[in-house]
Amino acid sequence: MTPVLQTIRKAVFPAAGLGTRFLPATKAQAKEMLPLIDKPIIQYGVEEALASGLDHVVLVTGQGKHAIEDHFNVDVELETLLESRGKTDLLADIRSVPCPASVAAVQQNEPLGLGHAVLVARELVGDEPFVVILSDDVIDANPPAVQQLINVYERLEDPVLAVERVPADQVSSYGVISGEPVPGEDGVYRIRDVVEKPPKEDAPSDLAIIGRYVLTPDIFPILESTPRDTRGEIQLTDGLRRLLAHRPLYACQIDGVRHDTGSKSGFLRATAYFALKRPDLAETFRRYLRTLGVGTDD
Ligand code: G1P
Repeated sequence: MTPVLQTIRKAVFPAAGLGTRFLPATKAQAKEMLPLIDKPIIQYGVEEALASGLDHVVLVTGQGKHAIEDHFNVDVELETLLESRGKTDLLADIRSVPCPASVAAVQQNEPLGLGHAVLVARELVGDEPFVVILSDDVIDANPPAVQQLINVYERLEDPVLAVERVPADQVSSYGVISGEPVPGEDGVYRIRDVVEKPPKEDAPSDLAIIGRYVLTPDIFPILESTPRDTRGEIQLTDGLRRLLAHRPLYACQIDGVRHDTGSKSGFLRATAYFALKRPDLAETFRRYLRTLGVGTDD
């Protein structure tokens, strides 16, 4: 009998980075909590996980990052106060924060890279397939990007990474794959090789990994023995490259719009993009942009 494919239930959110690109805003606050309009960046990722059918969130946090956990827990005191004052609108606002079935956090005490962050989540993930979401990459897609990956995983039954074509001068900021298109699967590649942040001239293609992965638990022992890179970090990409020797890996081009909110210009673009999609803000914001001479009439 063919074994039944295990359902994916858990989403791991590495969130222990120092957020140095946003100092001083991130001096005393996690970069994942910076608001895009009125929701912290990480909430977009958690909403995507829930909309993709995942209901267990695993946060890999650094020191002093309790605000992220608190954000996804019910604040009884605040709710009682708002209720007693009849502030139903505000109550609805805080209750709109997604509420996963469980939110567990584990500390990554040393900044040893993304592969290490995933390894730190091992106990909380256990022996089942899972998703990794890098919340810096905010993706507006329907179906959600994670759901698109899960659909491919359910058909091909091997790990799947999200990819996007990027301009040649940007490949060195990403993990980059090479591979062959999978017949009958639109935008899906069987990965031949994957390299972390290659120089432009060595990049195997322009297909860059964006922050979504469907992984299987066999990645954990591999990460455990993956050597550190020149910066002393364990890269997830290096672990995936080693996993390729044991099983097929796939990459799926995401149908949607991605913003890299980890850079200042990406963050600003995302803010404008989502403001222009919001019925309560779009019109006034568009009018304002026109006064700056940057608006469009469409
Ligand atoms: C990480 C990964 C990289 C991936 C990128 C996507 O890099 O290591 O492979 O392409 O996320 O955002 P980081 O942006 O954390 O340096």
